[in-house]
Parts: sequence; C-alpha cells; structure tokens
Amino acid sequence: MNWTTAEQHFEKSCVVCHGEGAKGTERGPSLVMSRSLQNRSEKEIQEVVRNGTEGGMPPFALPEAQLQSLAQWIRFLNAPVFDFPTVGDAKQGERFFFEKGQCATCHMVAGRGKVNGPDLSAIGRQLSLKDLEQSLDSPGEKAGSSSNCPFFAWCPQDQWKVVNVNLRDGSKLRGFARSRGKHDLQLQTLDGQFRFLLDTEYDQVVREKVSLMPALKSSAEERRNLLAYLSRLGGVTPGPILGGQDKVPTCSN
Ligand code: HEC
Ligand code: HEC
Repeated sequence: MNWTTAEQHFEKSCVVCHGEGAKGTERGPSLVMSRSLQNRSEKEIQEVVRNGTEGGMPPFALPEAQLQSLAQWIRFLNAPVFDFPTVGDAKQGERFFFEKGQCATCHMVAGRGKVNGPDLSAIGRQLSLKDLEQSLDSPGEKAGSSSNCPFFAWCPQDQWKVVNVNLRDGSKLRGFARSRGKHDLQLQTLDGQFRFLLDTEYDQVVREKVSLMPALKSSAEERRNLLAYLSRLGGVTPGPILGGQDKVPTCSN
C-alpha cells in the first residue's frame, strides 16, 4: 500500500493539530498507537473526520476519495499489521528469525523455539506495524509497559521483565516474575524452569531496567523480510505439530 497521497492530505489539513507523523500536539491527540483507534473501522474513522466531535475535532467537508484515503491510512497506523502485511520475502524472514537473527533462542512461533520471551505465533494480530517496529528497535518500551505499576501487584505488562532474587541462603536467581503476590513469587528462570518462592525464602527482588531482548541488528533487507514474516503470523490452529520439532513450519505469503 502506498500512503503518499494520504500523508499529503494529512500535512495539509490535519498536521496543525495532530502533529508530525500524527504523533499528537496539545491541540489534538496522537493518531498513532492509539488504544481508542485500534478497534475502529475505516467507516467509523471517516465519520469522525466528516462530522467532527464535541471534544474539539472540527468537521471536514472533504471529497470522498480524500476522506477514504485518510481513514485508510489512520487505520493502518493503528490496526494489527496482519491486516496490512508488509512487502518482503516472508520465507527469508522466517529463516532470519530462526537462524541468523537468533530470535528463536527466546521466542516461540508455532511451537518451535524457546520461552524466554512472549510467544509470537499470533504477533501479526496483536501489534500494529508501528508497535512491531518499536518492539524490535526499542525492546520493552511499548506503551503500557510502564513502571508505575506497584511492584507488589501482579502487572501483566511486567511478566517479561527480568528480576534478580536474593535468596536467604545466599544464592541468587534470575528470571521472569511471572506472577507475584504479597508473600510469594513465581519465577521462571532463564533455563525455562518454574520456581515457586515464599517470601520467607528470599529477601530482595530487584527488577532489571532494560529488557532482556537486544534491539534488532540487521541489514535493511533482512529487516524488510523479517517484518514481512512477522506481519503474517496470525496464530496457529490448535493441534499436534505435524512432522515433529525439526521441520520448519511453512508460512503463507
Ligand atoms: C483544530 C485542530 C484539529 C484539526 C485541524 C484536526 N483535528 Fe482531529 N482531533 C482534534 C481533537 C481535539 C480531537 C479529539 C476529539 C475528542 O476527543 O472528541 C481529534 C480527534 C480526531 C480523531 C479521533 C481520535 C480518537 O482517538 O478518537 C481522528 C481520527 C482525527 N481527529 C482525525 C483528523 C484528521 C484526519 C484531520 C484532518 C483532516 C484532523 N483530525 C484535523 C483536533 C483536530
Ligand atoms: C534474549 C532474549 C530475546 C531475543 C534474542 C529476542 N527477544 Fe524479542 N523479546 C524478548 C522479551 C523478554 C520480550 C518482552 C519485552 C519486554 O517486556 O522487555 C520480547 C518482545 C518482543 C516482541 C514484542 C512482543 C509483544 O507481545 O509485544 C517482539 C515482536 C519481539 N520480541 C521480536 C523479536 C525478534 C524478531 C527477535 C530476533 C531479531 C527477538 N525478538 C529476539 C526476548 C528476546
């Protein structure tokens, strides 16, 4: 999909309030990675632009084609990347994922890989392209993974944050705090084992500031292919993996 026309319309009519790259200003909200736009259809977005809102969005009497291209572009900025799969060689992307890129040393796709990071089997349906790119370039900094969540509460966005646990017997453990209560901690150590710990067994839990995931290092072409692969991951049909663990799962493109 080519977004040049939409971007030009946006520059002309919308950028004053919604800002460069639609990232928002004090006069208008961000239209990128926006929770409120995530599930809105193209038609609904068109309605907002055509009719405006009581909250300060002015109505725009635009030609139908312009309205449509703007609404499509705004949806693309927020909708799951699976709906707008990117151009590239997904087969090569898959190969990069499992080989050179070493992604599968932490992630699993369709039952293949490791569990030191989220399962990516359906990642194309979970993230927009912008979110996906941010996950690759600035791991762990996705909106919502804030650290203002009280540490003793169980925060889903923190389940992939690495913690260091000092045990009372002097030893240390490192892993993901998969859940945490007031007096206990369920730790998944980096070898994949689960440990259920009571607070009588440990005296300190320190959360690491940076994500375990390294930022993506690749050539431009490898990146393109990787994005093409990831954007097409729409989930697996439940059932046994046919052909055993060593077979590379095929992807459609
Ligand atoms: C004068 C400033 C201004 C201009 C110009 C403007 N907007 Fe808005 N827009 C707003 C404000 C303020 C809101 C929030 C309205 C609300 O919360 O009800 C908004 C909301 C929106 C929303 C809904 C966002 C959401 O999260 O619900 C969309 C979509 C949108 N604008 C698209 C556009 C497009 C496309 C253009 C250009 C054709 C445009 N806007 C021009 C101020 C502006
Ligand atoms: C050393 C382990 C490790 C490696 C290697 C790694 N990741 Fe990650 N990845 C993680 C962790 C942990 C997270 C969770 C981010 C966080 O909260 O810090 C993550 C998050 C992600 C996310 C966001 C997932 C979501 O649900 O939002 C994507 C996409 C991703 N990784 C893709 C990749 C790709 C592609 C590669 C290979 C180029 C890769 N990762 C390599 C550990 C890893």
